[in-house]
Parts: sequence; C-alpha cells; structure tokens
Amino acid sequence: MKLFIITLLATVATIQASPLNASCTVTSYSGVAAALQSCTALILKDITVPAKTTLALKLKSGASLTFAGTIRFAVAAWAGPLIEIKGAKVTVNGAGATLDGGGPKYWDGKGDNGTVKPKFLRIKTTGGSTVKNIKLLNCPKQCVSINSASDTVLDNFNIDVSAGDKGALGHNTDGFDVSSSSGITVQNSIVKNQDDCVAVNQGSNFIFRNLTCSGGHGLSLSVGQSSASGTPNTVKNVVFSDCTVMNSDNGIHVKTHSDAGTGSVSDITYKNIKLSGIRKYGINVQEDYEKGHSSGTAKGNIPISKLTMNSITGSMTGAKGISVYVLCGSGGCSTWSWSGVSIKNGSGKKNYCNFQPTGFPC
Ligand SMILES: *[C@@H]1O[C@H](CO)[C@@H](O)[C@H](O)[C@H]1NC(C)=O
Ligand SMILES: *[C@@H]1O[C@H](CO)[C@@H](O)[C@H](O)[C@H]1NC(C)=O
Ligand SMILES: *[C@@H]1O[C@H](CO)[C@@H](O)[C@H](O)[C@H]1NC(C)=O
Ligand SMILES: *[C@@H]1O[C@H](CO)[C@@H](O)[C@H](O)[C@H]1NC(C)=O
Repeated sequence: MKLFIITLLATVATIQASPLNASCTVTSYSGVAAALQSCTALILKDITVPAKTTLALKLKSGASLTFAGTIRFAVAAWAGPLIEIKGAKVTVNGAGATLDGGGPKYWDGKGDNGTVKPKFLRIKTTGGSTVKNIKLLNCPKQCVSINSASDTVLDNFNIDVSAGDKGALGHNTDGFDVSSSSGITVQNSIVKNQDDCVAVNQGSNFIFRNLTCSGGHGLSLSVGQSSASGTPNTVKNVVFSDCTVMNSDNGIHVKTHSDAGTGSVSDITYKNIKLSGIRKYGINVQEDYEKGHSSGTAKGNIPISKLTMNSITGSMTGAKGISVYVLCGSGGCSTWSWSGVSIKNGSGKKNYCNFQPTGFPC
C-alpha cells in the first residue's frame, strides 16, 4: 500500500512537470517572455530588443540560457540596463555570440555627464550560478554591474570598448562594477575600456583572477558612496590575483570618499599584478575623494586595514606618473603588509606615502 502511494505521487509529480519545454530557441523579442515561462534551456538568437526596454531574463532555478548570433538594442536616451539576468543555480553561456551595446551611437566624450546613456548588463544571480563566454561590445557606459548577486562565477568575459578610444568619445565605461554582493568570482577575462577595469563598491568575498585590463583606470575599490542609506559602506575580503593592467591611468586604485558616511575596507589582497604603460599611478591608495575628485585632504572616516600587496611589478610611462602614492587620513590606515612591490618610475617623480606599509620602503 505504501509503495503504491509513493508510485502514485511520483506519477502526479511527473505529469505536473511536463508542460516545461526542455529546450526552446527564440529569435524575436516578442517570444522571450513566454519562453522564460516554459523553457528550462533557452536559446536567444539574433534578437533586437526594442528601445527603452530591458531584456529582463529572470530564469527558472537551475535553467540555462545560451546566446547565439548577435543581440542588439534599439538606441534611446535612457538609463538601462539593456540586459538584466536573475536566477538561482543558473548557467548563462555567451557561446561566441556578441552582445552589441551600440556604443558609438551614444558616445559624446562626456560619459555620465552627457546625454543619458544606458548601463549594459546587470547580473543578479545567486545560489551557484555561472555566467560565461560573454562577449560585450561597445558599452554605452558602464558594462557589467554585479548588484545584489551572490555565489556566482563570471568566466571568460571579453569586454571590448576599445572603439571608444577614438576621439576620446567613450567615458565611464567601467568593466565590472560590484556592489551589495557576496561570493563573486570574476576570472579569465579581458577588458578594453576607458574607466575602471574592476570597481568594487560594496560587499564581501570577491575573487578577481587572470584579468587583462587595457586602456582604463585599473583594478579599483571605490568605497563610501554606497552608505547613502545610512548603513555603513563596507568592503571585506577581496583578492585580485594574476592580473595584467596595461596602457591605463592606474594599475591599482583604492579610494575612499571623505565626503561620505561611515564604512570600512579590510582584508584586501593584490598579488602577482603586472603593470605596463601606466600613466598616473602604479599603486594609488587615497582617502581624500570628495565630489568625485581627489581633494588633497584625507579623512579616516572609512579606514583601510589589512591591505596586502605581493609581487606588484612593471613600469610607468610618460612624464607625470608616480609609482606609489599613499594618502591616509588620521587613523585611516593600519596593518598593511607589502612585499615585492617594484614599479619602475618613468618620470623620476618620487613615491609619496604619508603612511608606511610594512615591508615597503616608500
Ligand atoms: C513549448 O512547447 C509547446 C508544445 O510543443 C509549444 O506550443 C510552444 O511553442 C513551446 N514554447 C516555446 C517557447 O518554444
Ligand atoms: C563630469 O562632470 C564632472 C563635474 O563637473 C567633471 O569633473 C568630470 O570631469 C566630467 N566627466 C566627464 C567624462 O566629462
Ligand atoms: C587566462 O585568461 C585567458 C583569457 O583572457 C585564457 O586564455 C587563459 O587560458 C587563462 N589562463 C588560465 C591559467 O586559466
Ligand atoms: C626612480 O626609480 C629608480 C629605480 O628604482 C630609483 O633609483 C630612483 O631613485 C627613482 N627616482 C625617484 C625620483 O624616486
């Protein structure tokens, strides 16, 4: 009798699950919503997304999404994002497809300040998700925003906004922005852009490894501006390893906002970072950001502790660069352990540190 009931229940479960299509290929935007309801393995091929519309991809738990061909977006002055991906335990595979942000139709050399431009790809996945093999071309402004995500691996991204170098038209084209998230790994990826390669704003337990960054502002933490709601803005436990930064303003840039509220930055490691063609700072840690700029007056409102640098090597270029610059506010910096920091100065300008990291004679 018991066995019979179990068999019956199993049969009912099977019948209820059957309306889900195993695999569907969608080739027009109008088919996307229905497919998200009925498919567990969804292929989006050669779609053009209408203007002022987010391609909202809320996947079923455990589902997969594969891009094919070229995904395009009608141009409009709006904030975006052009794509948003949500879901738990999902697998998203770019599989050689191109996501084309249409950057040249937006770029005006003013980034966030000019005409309104959409952010490109927002990732809010959780629970052991993977997003891989993604080719993002010509982001109008910020490329990938990882926001309210957790337990997700981003693997093999190719972000190419190098066309925005022409005429200095591309601006604020950050590669990966990370906020309000935890447990994120970004690996094996290439970013060619005009702003931060990575900018971490808030959260914990992040790994960035084997990234190649070119043309932008380096591997950054920017902390303070996410405390607007009154809660402290914290960034904790972040590792950058085996990365190359070339032809960029900075190699490594850690900045805290002195005009912001409270917060902290702790347990940050940069190891095996190779620099070349760095124009402004090889390593720049500054606690003096005010209204989006260096003010020269540092504050310890967001202390930086346990900052480890290990094997940061390479060279600067041009006549203005400083290899290492550290500007800490009162009580703002503690327990920094640096080894193997060797960045050849191009200009002959002296390093400056108002706080001495252990192991690095500044
Ligand atoms: C799912 O399968 C049903 C039945 O075969 C079909 O009518 C429907 O178009 C499919 N949905 C998608 C999005 O392919
Ligand atoms: C945006 O405006 C700010 C404030 O006026 C300015 O400092 C910044 O350089 C501008 N950025 C761009 C890309 O034009
Ligand atoms: C590092 O990333 C590149 C792609 O940028 C990839 O070709 C290479 O295999 C990766 N290296 C390792 C050790 O995974
Ligand atoms: C620039 O770097 C070289 C080599 O490390 C060093 O000898 C020299 O003193 C540096 N110049 C200045 C001005 O710090």
